[in-house]
Amino acid sequence: MVINLGKQHSLLSNWVSELRDVEVQNDRMRFRKNLERIGEVAAYEISKTLAWEEKEITTPLGIASCKVLQSQPVLATILRAGLGMHNGLLNYFDKGENAFISAYRKHHADGSFDINIEYMSCPELEDKVLIISDPMIATGASLVKAIQYLKEEGVSKEIHIVCAIACTVGIEFILREQPKATIWCGDIDDEITAKGYIVPGLGDAGDLAFGQKMQF
Ligand code: URA
Repeated sequence: MVINLGKQHSLLSNWVSELRDVEVQNDRMRFRKNLERIGEVAAYEISKTLAWEEKEITTPLGIASCKVLQSQPVLATILRAGLGMHNGLLNYFDKGENAFISAYRKHHADGSFDINIEYMSCPELEDKVLIISDPMIATGASLVKAIQYLKEEGVSKEIHIVCAIACTVGIEFILREQPKATIWCGDIDDEITAKGYIVPGLGDAGDLAFGQKMQF
């Protein structure tokens, strides 16, 4: 299932437009902050779909019957571009466990690339809710590979994927490979370049958030 949060005409669409805007996106602090804010809104929206339970809470004046989250999700992100969004999700699911996985594109002379994963730290995932963030879903290849690696730590009961912009081909690929996942995005674009960049997209989210990297 795909949920395009940008359809709701909320502040989130403002933040996505700032991420895209060449006049605004070079302010790295604002770029990171906007990704964080989208992560926060996504956390809030996802929280409405999770399991809740009633709990008696003692206040200074009596007992209140409150709804509390049954269990905290595991928050996973793909280094490095996902860090801002991850922070936003963690601001709201503040007791959640965390998983980090590195994925980078190894480019070849013909313009094609492979996804390489070299690092992962992950808690036990069995029967937990997994929320994985990556600001840009282009081909979906790195996300699918990351989920395959994470699944070695147990099969989560639900998978939520959070991104700022998703490309249609990436969405289709992910839902083919992980049909039970829910994709939460800020906007959807239809085009992708041969080098795997989303059009109109926003450019390279990792570089915009943290500075240009060397190509290797
Ligand atoms: N990653 C990015 O940072 N940008 C894209 O357009 C696609 C993948």
